[in-house]
Amino acid sequence: MGTSDLFHEVITLPEPVRSARYKRLVGLDDHKSRLRKEAAVLADPSKIDAWAQQHHNLNFSGNVALTLLKDRAPLLLFAGDVGSGKSALAESFGCDLAEQLGVDVTLYRLKLTTRGEGHVGEMTNLIGKAFNEVTSEAKMGRSADGRLLGITVLVVDEADALVQSREATQMHHEDRAGVDAFLQGIDDFAGTGLPLLVVMCTNRLAALDPAVRRRAAAVFSFRRPNDAQRKQVLSDALEGYGISPESLDKLVLATGPQGAKRPGFTFSDLTQRLVPTAILAAYPDQALSADLILNVASDMDPTPEFNDAAAS
Ligand SMILES: Nc1ncnc2c1ncn2[C@@H]1O[C@H](COP(=O)(O)OP(=O)(O)OP(=O)(O)O)[C@@H](O)[C@H]1O
Ligand SMILES: [Mg+2]
Repeated sequence: MGTSDLFHEVITLPEPVRSARYKRLVGLDDHKSRLRKEAAVLADPSKIDAWAQQHHNLNFSGNVALTLLKDRAPLLLFAGDVGSGKSALAESFGCDLAEQLGVDVTLYRLKLTTRGEGHVGEMTNLIGKAFNEVTSEAKMGRSADGRLLGITVLVVDEADALVQSREATQMHHEDRAGVDAFLQGIDDFAGTGLPLLVVMCTNRLAALDPAVRRRAAAVFSFRRPNDAQRKQVLSDALEGYGISPESLDKLVLATGPQGAKRPGFTFSDLTQRLVPTAILAAYPDQALSADLILNVASDMDPTPEFNDAAAS
């Protein structure tokens, strides 16, 4: 079985399309900054030692807090509502790391078909192969004298399909074995100092195996945009179309929550449905106008909220 059966096309970052996508993501500045810190410490663990020295006059030997930090598994969970930027951030933040740290970032994206066909031992085998492949790439990320040469990012999107809770009664024996193999792989990474980050995305955090959740160094939550964030997305998208600030405010209200029954638009409702639909409504004979966008918005139902509790 070759790499192409386990992963989507392997991508080297930075790359212009993903860089631009990263910069366009609204409302995720805290996540972006945390990702930078995680990567900076992973890239050069001596930086955190220098910090402890500078601020606390501590040296590393026997320093419990720093050992706890360094011993974590390099596993980050992106969890939350649909169309809120989980996949977009997971597949693009490597561009920022690459630019910050001056090295290439190699992006692996696990294919869901990696679950195999349910033959005995197959899933364990596939996951083992995937982790081996990623480990050998990550090992090339550091020179013999410890210098950073590159960072590897493994993205497991729609992770609930792969590592749903082993408590799920309908779960196939082979799938349980797969979760065990996954946990083993993650544990093997912990404390190795390899320049590797594993990101799992899900909108069903409650359905993930608790042992996987427990290992996560951080859980990043993703939500629907608030008024200011919808305003930002809409004004970015509609720049140059002559939409007045007052009309923009109306659009922000029209795409917001309407009472308890109708949630606000998701980020993707705005970028992948509202704006393109409005443009096609105007095309070919009309100009785009605020009224036209408002009409399109009032005809459009926002994506229903994902009920994590009910899904688990
Ligand atoms: N925070 C954001 N800022 C700007 N645009 C966003 C943001 N989040 C999502 N989008 C837009 O929505 C599109 C879909 O987002 P993405 O695929 O990352 O959603 P997701 O959280 O992975 O959803 P799902 O749970 O359905 O997989 C993006 O390509 C982008 O156009
Ligand atoms: Mg996604």
